[in-house]
Amino acid sequence: MYRAPRGTSDILPEEQAYWRYVEEKVVELCQLYGYERIDSPAFEDTRLFARSVGEGTDIVEKEMYTFTDKGGNLLTLRPEGTAPVCRAYLEHGLHNRPQPVKLYYIAPIFRYERPQAGRYRQHYQFGCEAIGDDDPALDAEVIEMAWRFFQSVNLHHLTLQLNSIGCKRCRPGYLNTLKDYYASHTEELCADCKVRLVRNPLRLLDCKRPACQRIADAAPRSSDHLCPECQSHFTRLQRYLSLLEIPFALNHRLVRGLDYYTRTVFEIQPENGGAQSTLVGGGRYDDLIEELGGRPTPAIGYAMGIERIILNLKEQHIPVPPLPGAQVFIAHLGDEAREEAIKLASRLRRAGTAVILATGSKSLKAQLRQANRLGARYALILGEDELKSGTASLRDMTTSQQSLIHLSELPGALK
Ligand code: HAM
Repeated sequence: MYRAPRGTSDILPEEQAYWRYVEEKVVELCQLYGYERIDSPAFEDTRLFARSVGEGTDIVEKEMYTFTDKGGNLLTLRPEGTAPVCRAYLEHGLHNRPQPVKLYYIAPIFRYERPQAGRYRQHYQFGCEAIGDDDPALDAEVIEMAWRFFQSVNLHHLTLQLNSIGCKRCRPGYLNTLKDYYASHTEELCADCKVRLVRNPLRLLDCKRPACQRIADAAPRSSDHLCPECQSHFTRLQRYLSLLEIPFALNHRLVRGLDYYTRTVFEIQPENGGAQSTLVGGGRYDDLIEELGGRPTPAIGYAMGIERIILNLKEQHIPVPPLPGAQVFIAHLGDEAREEAIKLASRLRRAGTAVILATGSKSLKAQLRQANRLGARYALILGEDELKSGTASLRDMTTSQQSLIHLSELPGALK
């Protein structure tokens, strides 16, 4: 028996109501905030991700699905959505449009991670990118947008965590201070953190091991080492969030797992959830477009995992509207009736009524049972008597009441 690859899953019909609901809310939200949809290819040149997400990150080092195609090109299944959007921004000259350019995507993301609840090897993200402006009002708007999304789907008990990790002018100084602090704690660090200290000191702050967390808690804070511009940016952002009445908690250990971030970083988490329950992650990436070969272009964005949103909807018992089901089930008895039923089904569908036509030659009882299980509102029954009089029996599946109706009147009556 074949099974779906580890860490991937099928989205069966009964799950689709959740997916449709989330997607509809996403589309509504993006329209409200002026975001337009972009779809990028499922794979890209591997160097795009190595360059943007960063060589020393878990994503690039351990998690990418990378392959060489038959033409010898080194390609990678998209492990995140920001770099492809930036690549498209540059490739299609979107800097010529009014800035910021606001784009969103709903796309599958591939990461070779250790699968567990809420963590998959293929997951879907809804992501937003606002490219071409560094106004902290844009940061506040982007964060507000993510926050309002959860209000729109009735998900509550969430926290918004916020930090600023500075820019390329102030961060080197901060990293030196951080390394000096950690130099006196090297013996107590886990093996991973010893490597981080050399390769990516900022990531020391989000180690999940309790011993390392205690050291990180007392570490110097990036927000205390910002240059005046970053400081002012961060202060204004906090002021705007307060104006918008978005509650946030400053978290000096929030640094994110991708290297492109500058200044603002944020996450939204369920109040009682752990790290892999994070619903939203995002932040500024003011240097990324330039690093990919463009002009200096500040930008900010975020992404949220759709599976995690749905897990939380279920956990909080939030009902979602059902998908429209079958309206009419056509049952038939005998060969002649079957031919009439085939024609009738086609005629009704062309008139806009959703129809399920019985197949095979089951008893009427079995056919009605099937209609019931499919949730059909009505059953139309074609038997010998009905054929003679050019009618069908219309059965209301909820009340079981039945009446004869002329075939020519059916499309109108069912509408
Ligand atoms: P990220 O934090 O790596 O950020 O992922 C964003 C969200 O995707 C997470 O908060 C989580 O909800 C979901 N997610 C991540 N990995 C998994 C997984 N293995 N299984 C299920 N869900 C997952 C980014 O990818 C950035 N590109 C976000 C961004 C956009 N920053 C700026 N613009």
